[in-house]
Amino acid sequence: MSRNILILPGDGIGPEITAEAVKILEAARDGGLDVALTEGKVGGAGYDAAGHPLPPATLDAAKAADAILLGAVGGPKWDKIEDISLRPERGLLGLRKELELFANLRPAILYPQLAEASSLKPEVVSGLDIMIVRELTGGIYFGQPRGIETRDGQRVGYNTYVYSESEIERIGRTAFELAQKRNKKLCSVDKANVLEVTMLWREVMERIAADYPDVELTHMYVDNAAMQLVRAPKQFDVMVTGNMFGDILSDEASMLTGSIGMLPSASLNADGKGMYEPCHGSAPDIAGQGIANPLATILSVAMMLRYTFNETAWAERIEKAVGVVLDEGLRTADIAYAGTRKVSTSEMGDAVLAAFKAQL
Ligand code: NAD
Ligand code: IPM
Ligand code: MN
Repeated sequence: MSRNILILPGDGIGPEITAEAVKILEAARDGGLDVALTEGKVGGAGYDAAGHPLPPATLDAAKAADAILLGAVGGPKWDKIEDISLRPERGLLGLRKELELFANLRPAILYPQLAEASSLKPEVVSGLDIMIVRELTGGIYFGQPRGIETRDGQRVGYNTYVYSESEIERIGRTAFELAQKRNKKLCSVDKANVLEVTMLWREVMERIAADYPDVELTHMYVDNAAMQLVRAPKQFDVMVTGNMFGDILSDEASMLTGSIGMLPSASLNADGKGMYEPCHGSAPDIAGQGIANPLATILSVAMMLRYTFNETAWAERIEKAVGVVLDEGLRTADIAYAGTRKVSTSEMGDAVLAAFKAQL
């Protein structure tokens, strides 16, 4: 039976970038990879079509799918929706929570051809290969109580930063296991000098470290980690952190690789089922112009083939095709610089497709 992939383009540049990734998936299917593609609506598109950012039909399709590819959600059009549970972002958060996609892997890898595109000096970033492991279904994003209410005549807004030991342990074990397959260095990022929740985080990481004697565990406060990422990023191998710190640090790390348009992600549950998406958002400032970088989404497909379907050879073909196109000097605007050839979203997608097909 074919493996079923649900495509959720979403909003803004979402449809533009997923269209390029779908071209690759269709070519893989035509080349013998056993997959079937279906499409659904999420985010603002879900709200417009069905009155909810995660329509029941989409949630059902997501639960039934073997893997999901999501573009991006959100945009100014929906920022004024009064009931925040109906905002596009809640569609994405709902999918993560409902499918228990607690492990978010965000690899910041510098393609050598893009050393000049990074905002840091080439020698600081050359050879960069960091895996950020972000907890995705807990922490301050989901903690209760939360809300905005009136107290003593003024409105107050509040959220709760909470993690249970079991939540910390499962993301910790995911990170240790990844570190075992890499350079065996794990840096846990917290704010244990101030926040009890991350004191517990540090304690649990220390406890489970005993089960991974071959991995060197270090701890770093998040403010220092943000600084170290731009000072000397190659000191890191695997980083593990909570939901919000991981969100922020991964956007920061993306610039080391040249652009946020280069950073893919995998969001996995305990069975390895996953949702795959670029780390960036719907980029309303460039939506509809055909200039967005589709590579983060295309590389997210490679992650899908590797992590959910164990199709390493197919994943490598995609990654290699991206390398070929970068070798040819093709660049979307976000990674373009003097001496390279600026191309549109679909020109970039077509070039990757051609380099991919050349390997079939
Ligand atoms: P953003 O990531 O959408 O954009 C930040 C900047 O990066 C913009 O200048 C944008 O043009 C640029 N950029 C992003 N992706 C790019 C690409 N592929 N190619 C070239 N340039 C790219 O973040 P934002 O502006 O803070 O948020 C915009 C909307 O996206 C908001 O509604 C936000 O909630 C949503 N968002 C969604 C996701 C998601 O769906 N996973 C992630 C982040 C933000
Ligand atoms: C991301 C995004 C989301 C997050 C938003 C859109 C809910 O920024 O995927 O990084 O904060 O997790
Ligand atoms: Mn983010």
